[in-house]
Amino acid sequence: MNFKVTCIVLAAVTIVNALDFGKSQWIWTNEVTSPGATVPTGSRAFRKTFTPPLGKTPVTANILMDVDDAFTLFVNGAEIGFADRVPYAEQFCVALQPCLNVFAVTAVNTGGSAGLLAAIEVTYSDGSTSTLISDTTWRYSLTVTSGYEQLSFDDNAWTPALSQATYGAAPWGQIETPKSPPVLSLVHSFWVWTNEVSGGVAPLGTRAFRRTYTPQTGATPTSVKIVIVGDDSYTLWINGDVVGSGTSFANAQTYTVALQPAASVVFAVQVTNGGATNNPAGLLASVQVTSIDSTCGCNSSALFGTDADWKYSTTVPAGFEQPAFNDAAWPQAIVEAPFGSSPWGTTMYSG
Ligand SMILES: *[C@@H]1O[C@H](CO)[C@@H](O)[C@H](O)[C@H]1NC(C)=O
Repeated sequence: MNFKVTCIVLAAVTIVNALDFGKSQWIWTNEVTSPGATVPTGSRAFRKTFTPPLGKTPVTANILMDVDDAFTLFVNGAEIGFADRVPYAEQFCVALQPCLNVFAVTAVNTGGSAGLLAAIEVTYSDGSTSTLISDTTWRYSLTVTSGYEQLSFDDNAWTPALSQATYGAAPWGQIETPKSPPVLSLVHSFWVWTNEVSGGVAPLGTRAFRRTYTPQTGATPTSVKIVIVGDDSYTLWINGDVVGSGTSFANAQTYTVALQPAASVVFAVQVTNGGATNNPAGLLASVQVTSIDSTCGCNSSALFGTDADWKYSTTVPAGFEQPAFNDAAWPQAIVEAPFGSSPWGTTMYSG
């Protein structure tokens, strides 16, 4: 009786939190002198070779990954994706080969500490799974050799990775991971605006912002969850369709949008700074995009917030909300302050 109850509880936990970094280690090269220490900048190559247990046939890998500061992931030689948003992990679901598989990562340190963190859930043809983590079974090279990401590459001369710390340790702390269904946080988002802010205030009027997200090759975005707030009011479009609007800088709105098939997701926001005299203005948002991989039919997810990857225009051109609008000449948004900062304080939202 007790045993059965325990099994049911465990199964429920597994569904809610299928993949996490709980047992993963922050690994890097022998250039690390102490956990989280400053190491030389540059690109390093990592490989994890995976041979399935006898009688098991791998079908898919659900990969949760983060690198301080940026990475490109390859699976069996194919480039899967790039990410450079350290407080957010990226999640990729890819098809595997029936036998040997290799996960290869070009990991880039642009300054300060460096580390690679991964959890990979392999699903077999019989429905069972096993989980690989970043640990000292990964191997590295201080140079990124051409073709190192290929299955046929021989990494026997490479060195076992050095484990710096387990997940959760300083300086990295907790990393935001995509959830299914999504649970969003504004904690790592920034209030952004145009280059017109001076002394904490901006001219009155309406400004336009855009951000385009494109998932890895072979994946099509299917849904977006977004938490968004504008100071003082905003209207949001996704792929040219109006999603909603808000009129209070203290209360964010949350939207879940199912997407029509398209290669990318284009967020367009019009924000109006109202009032009688120049006053604070800003846009703050947090997003999860879920995409489906056409080969294996499983989901990949990306998280990001408002930051300098968004673009702005001090005018609102006609049709700026349309995906095909050309924003190539728009400058990067100016980061004003992290979420929670004065004068905005804590914004009310539902993640
Ligand atoms: C995949 O994403 C869709 C939303 O785009 C969601 O409805 C579905 O439940 C997800 N599947 C899994 C297995 O998480």
